[in-house]
Amino acid sequence: MRLHVVNHPLVSHKLTVLRDEHTDSPTFRRLTDELVTLLAYEATREVRVEPVDITTPVGPTTGVRLAAPKPMVVPILRAGLGMLDGMMRLLPTAEVGFLGMVRNEETLAASTYAERLPEDLSGRQCYVLDPMLATGGTLAAAIQFLTHRGADDITAICLLAAPEGVENLEAGLKDLDVPVTVVTAALDEMLNDKGYIVPGLGDAGDRLYGVA
Ligand code: URA
Repeated sequence: MRLHVVNHPLVSHKLTVLRDEHTDSPTFRRLTDELVTLLAYEATREVRVEPVDITTPVGPTTGVRLAAPKPMVVPILRAGLGMLDGMMRLLPTAEVGFLGMVRNEETLAASTYAERLPEDLSGRQCYVLDPMLATGGTLAAAIQFLTHRGADDITAICLLAAPEGVENLEAGLKDLDVPVTVVTAALDEMLNDKGYIVPGLGDAGDRLYGVA
């Protein structure tokens, strides 16, 4: 697994405002959207393209276009939904599949409660959206799910990651024969005993959508 922490002053600035407990939900949603677009730029560095011949007003040339099959963007419900628009701004022709994962707050184990994805993801590059890489359980389960369907290249975009989560994810995916990259805005200090990232930003789903 490859971890890419995006080091850019605009990313750090937006993340700092996101972390602030005084930032309200509308601002939190807008900044998440902007931050994801910046992370998506890095996350799509290896997106597959193919050559295409075009003609400019001045003459013929060869450029590139996204290769088939289209990339698949997979927000993990519920908080990953807050990252979808920011991602699709850069990849408007991607397809979107949904994965509902829930974490048992006592055992911290992740399970799937809903999915809307093609049965066959062979040859697809998948971009998983999950704001908080905390224990790594949800992301590991999501990545396993996608590889069982045939995905052959997976990039996860997370606003924040905890060292424990990165380590667990690496251990959980060690037998996987598929390249996995995690792109994040910051690697934080630790997880607390409730499974929250410290200093983190709190509960991303609640801050995006309110407490449900
Ligand atoms: N999920 C969150 O929303 N926040 C955390 O800090 C950890 C998991």
